[in-house]
Amino acid sequence: MDILQLITKNRSYRRFDNSRKLEDTFLSELVDAARLSQSGANAQPLRYITVNTPDMCEKLYAHLLWAGRLKEWDGPVEEERPTAYVVVLADKQAPKIAMPLVDSGLAMQNMCLYAISKGVGSCMIGNFIKPEIKKLLEIDERYELMWVVALGYPVENVVLETVKDDVAYHRDAEGNHYVPKYKAEDILLNKF
Ligand SMILES: Cc1cc2nc3c(=O)[nH]c(=O)nc-3n(C[C@H](O)[C@H](O)[C@H](O)COP(=O)(O)O)c2cc1C
Repeated sequence: MDILQLITKNRSYRRFDNSRKLEDTFLSELVDAARLSQSGANAQPLRYITVNTPDMCEKLYAHLLWAGRLKEWDGPVEEERPTAYVVVLADKQAPKIAMPLVDSGLAMQNMCLYAISKGVGSCMIGNFIKPEIKKLLEIDERYELMWVVALGYPVENVVLETVKDDVAYHRDAEGNHYVPKYKAEDILLNKF
């Protein structure tokens, strides 16, 4: 698959086959993909926690907020919940020149692209109950909890469509998930 096909396939997946677990070695490969990402001033302020035991996945799941725009959906049912997570942290003691917000976007994107290249879907999550996760994962005050990346084998059909009036993602009665994207000509302001 070429990189553009991979980017196209790399959607936010929120429903997974919970019976298919992910190996620890796979999670280490994701951390490798993150570690090799570009980093502002090469400061490398990010740190990671991986979670893939069923017990901890269940506990972490309880503190995550899913698909805010789908008001009628409370998140995946038990059999469709993620089977692993990578939690992204920033070291508050990193040099001032560090740019953890940008770095974390790059690191997550590389992890998610690597994952989907192996058939594993992901969803970056920034909406969660921070104090509960910090407690659950015993996160030291030194680290800022930035993102949680949910992972698993997708069982969801995600369809890209062109933005008409609204950018809000939506679902149909069969559970197909539609994601409107702008057309290239609508976002390319000028060509010189
Ligand atoms: C920085 C960031 C934070 C996000 N936080 C959440 C979140 O808290 N919960 C959620 O269900 N999806 C979250 N998403 C997924 C977005 O909703 C998703 O990217 C968007 O709907 C477009 O779909 P696509 O990723 O398939 O292009 C987040 C995505 C990004 C990039």
